[in-house]
Formats: sequence, C-alpha cells, structure tokens
Amino acid sequence: MDITTAVTTRRSVRDFLDTPVPEATLRKVIETALRSPSGGNLQPWHLHVVTGDALDRLKTLMREKVSKGFNELPEYEIYPPKLQSPYRERRYEIGELMYRQLGIAREDKAARFKWFQRNFEFFGAPVGLFCTVDENMGPPQWSDLGMVLQTLMLLLRSEGLDSCAQESWALYPNTISEFLNLPDGRKVFAGMAIGHANPDSPVNQLTSPRAPMAENVQFLS
Ligand SMILES: Cc1cc2nc3c(=O)[nH]c(=O)nc-3n(C[C@H](O)[C@H](O)[C@H](O)COP(=O)(O)O)c2cc1C
Repeated sequence: MDITTAVTTRRSVRDFLDTPVPEATLRKVIETALRSPSGGNLQPWHLHVVTGDALDRLKTLMREKVSKGFNELPEYEIYPPKLQSPYRERRYEIGELMYRQLGIAREDKAARFKWFQRNFEFFGAPVGLFCTVDENMGPPQWSDLGMVLQTLMLLLRSEGLDSCAQESWALYPNTISEFLNLPDGRKVFAGMAIGHANPDSPVNQLTSPRAPMAENVQFLS
C-alpha cells in the first residue's frame, strides 16, 4: 500500500469485528513504527499491547470503574478549558456528525454517555494499546508520541487493519497505571483500539471533515 492510500483510508474506527490479529503482525508493525523520528532521538514513547486474557481482565475492570463514573483525576487536560473558535466549532461538528450517524439525539445525554463508555471496551477491538510517557517530558516529547502513533496507524492500514486513537483513557490514569504496572512517574497519554473494522456499522461510515487548507496553511514565497 502506498503512503497516500494509507493516509487517506485511515479513519477512526469505532466498531470492530472480533477477528483476532496475529501477534506476529502486531510485532512487525510496531517494530517498523519504532523507526518514527523523535527530537534528539529520545524515543520517549512506551507502548503496551493488551490482548487475550489480559484484555478481558481490563474490560471487566473498566466496566466496574465506569459504572462508578469518573472519579480519578485526569492525567492531563484533554482540551483547553475555554476552547476558542474555530476549534470549538470543529469539536462540536465532529460530535454532531458522529451522534447523527449513531442515531443518538444531542440532548439524549444518557445514550451519549453509554456510547462514550464503549471507549473503555476499545470499541470491541481484539487489541488494545497504550502509550505512556515519563512525567518530566514536555510538549516536544509529547509531539513525538503523535509521530509514533500515527506511523503505527498507517502501518496498520498496510496490513488491512484499522484503529482508533483514544485519549479518553487519560480519564482513568490510576486504573491504567496499576493495570499496566507502570513505574512511578509515568503518565498515560492515550490508548488505541486495533483490529478489523465492522464494515456494516453506521459509525464507521463517518468521514470526518477537514478545514480547507487556506485556514491552517500559509505559503510564503
Ligand atoms: C490523540 C488522539 C486521541 C483521540 N481520542 C479519541 C477518543 O478518546 N475517543 C474517540 O472516539 N476518538 C478519539 N480520537 C479520534 C478523533 O476524534 C479523530 O481522529 C478525529 O475526529 C478525526 O477523525 P478521523 O480519525 O476519522 O480522521 C482521538 C484522536 C487522536 C489523534
């Protein structure tokens, strides 16, 4: 698969088949993704792959935690507290599009919350991955985490696999740190669901919009 096809066919998949993913495939794509660049070649990422019995245990644990609501201090602020324009509108728009696709009304908070909880089942994916980082790492190193995660998502496409990056896991840092047995001083950046998309699922038909290039890109000559 060429790079352009990998980029344009990647989308956040939020409903997976239970078709297993061979461990050899996961090892191959992760090994390649570790070729991602990072400032000073720090390679500040730590990746944790969860499958099989461990995944079942995590899902059971998360069902219990989620039933009690959000009672952990989030690892970081996922969005700035007062999201300004145009980011606020973009965030609103993707939410609207997704809930429309799911047939959930905006005002139906219970249904939306129930849907949101699917994050903590990796949307039914047979593989969950976490990315963690040492707490003293700053914005430059956090941007390196994005490098490795996007590279991984593209390589997954080349194996016919789909994914969804998930910062929602940062809402349960204590649970995840304990589950992964993280050393002190390690932060949970994001999770990622990995597997085969359910092709019939309405939520997977969503193509997220992008702002026209002129809004974000400046050419000087
Ligand atoms: C770092 C990161 C974290 C994300 N966290 C979540 C998440 O917790 N739950 C979710 O459903 N989507 C999550 N997404 C997916 C975004 O909503 C999605 O990338 C965006 O709407 C663009 O859509 P696309 O990925 O289909 O192109 C995340 C994406 C990124 C890059």
